[in-house]
Amino acid sequence: MDFREEIMSSSELLQAHAHLWSYSVTYLKSMALKCAIELGIPDIIHKHGQPITLSKLVPAVHIHPSKTHCLYRIMRILVHSGFFSTRKLDVIPQQQQDQEVEEEAYSLTHASRLLLSDGPAFMKMKTFFLFHLLPQAMAPWHSMSTWLQSSNVSAFEMTDGTGRTFWDCLADEPDLNNVFNEAMANDSQLIAKVALMEHKKVFEGLRSLVDVGGGTGTMAKAVASAFPHIKCTVFDLPHVVSNLEGTDNLNFVGGSVFSDAMPPADAILLKLFLHDWDDEKSLTILKRCKEAVQGNDKGGKVIVIDIIIDQKNMEKEPSEIQLCNDILMMAVAGRERTLVEWEKLFLAAGFTEYNVTPIVGSARSLIETNRCIPVWILLSIRLKLRRFFGIRVRVPEEQKEQLVTVEIPSVASRSSIFVLGKDFDLVKESETNALLRD
Ligand SMILES: C[S@@+](CC[C@H](N)C(=O)[O-])C[C@H]1O[C@@H](n2cnc3c(N)ncnc32)[C@H](O)[C@@H]1O
Repeated sequence: MDFREEIMSSSELLQAHAHLWSYSVTYLKSMALKCAIELGIPDIIHKHGQPITLSKLVPAVHIHPSKTHCLYRIMRILVHSGFFSTRKLDVIPQQQQDQEVEEEAYSLTHASRLLLSDGPAFMKMKTFFLFHLLPQAMAPWHSMSTWLQSSNVSAFEMTDGTGRTFWDCLADEPDLNNVFNEAMANDSQLIAKVALMEHKKVFEGLRSLVDVGGGTGTMAKAVASAFPHIKCTVFDLPHVVSNLEGTDNLNFVGGSVFSDAMPPADAILLKLFLHDWDDEKSLTILKRCKEAVQGNDKGGKVIVIDIIIDQKNMEKEPSEIQLCNDILMMAVAGRERTLVEWEKLFLAAGFTEYNVTPIVGSARSLIETNRCIPVWILLSIRLKLRRFFGIRVRVPEEQKEQLVTVEIPSVASRSSIFVLGKDFDLVKESETNALLRD
């Protein structure tokens, strides 16, 4: 049958309509949360110290009395979305002291705790959330189709209309620059906390580290304080770092990764940086990083903290963040990448070995690209893997001398470690998997 004549049942028709309808209004969930933040509701509930009823919330947020029912409805959708929870409280209305009535009272959830003004730095996500909903940040998404048909490199450049890149715009507009830098610092506080708790080993043994595109230095500061012997440098554009003061083992260098000398170091950190660039520019960046870590005898490395689009688990929430973030990157002509796409980049830049560890629950992964691993280390890794994990690695006879590739499915995180030796040929992922299945 011609698909144009396909008849849907009533329920299929209604389901299709509901799916579409939901897409036309779900942005209102984000807007309701923005409104609640602007009214200071998470802080008010927190300061109240116990669940707060609507009748106590209304005077605290200074809304017009005629809008009380609107606030109730906004809170209702935010309860539905998991940002607040409710429970019934017995209250005695002032007029009828003897008669108790039940009123709903709102509490914070884990998600709304991240929106508090006070509290530990790694739990502050307010600016990160609000930045995405700024009119300047949202403008490109009203004109995606026009942008696709235009020759503008990035969606931001088209809607901005002045020929500036997003980064040029931040350099011109200090207020927006501050909000963006704070938004990124919010994210870095949280990731630094997790990375230094769960993945500390990545930084062990380093004597120096440069955080390229490291913003106002949140991640580098965390590394510098956890490892006082590591000399940390933040390398970012002058408008980001020019007024920042360093410490004994932290300093700031202003410059562009494309035109200025990158300070040499044992390791270069690229957190949410490569996803801002297309493959050509990312390749240039990775090559420059490789040069910057080349000069040390221990075999320097590049540490990438970024999204790896997981096409095999698309139904999970992190995947939705990954796919949406991929669209977001069109604003700056960047992109999110699958593992195969990352691998192509690393190999093209001349890295021959990398190691992927998902930062579980964060939609991000930690990738270490080692510049050079001596063959004897590779062989001993392979032996250890066989001994401890019972993994058999079958290598075709004709490639035995050239190839050392190992994949270990990790029990806890579904993560994989790929080890590829310097100067060896790359085996395509599909071929690798076929080898391992045999
Ligand atoms: C998405 S932010 C990530 C900031 C930080 N790494 C983090 O995750 O919090 C990208 C950073 O790259 C910086 N950047 C943009 N273009 C750059 C360039 N050409 N050279 C160096 N840094 C650049 C921006 O100023 C910004 O701080």
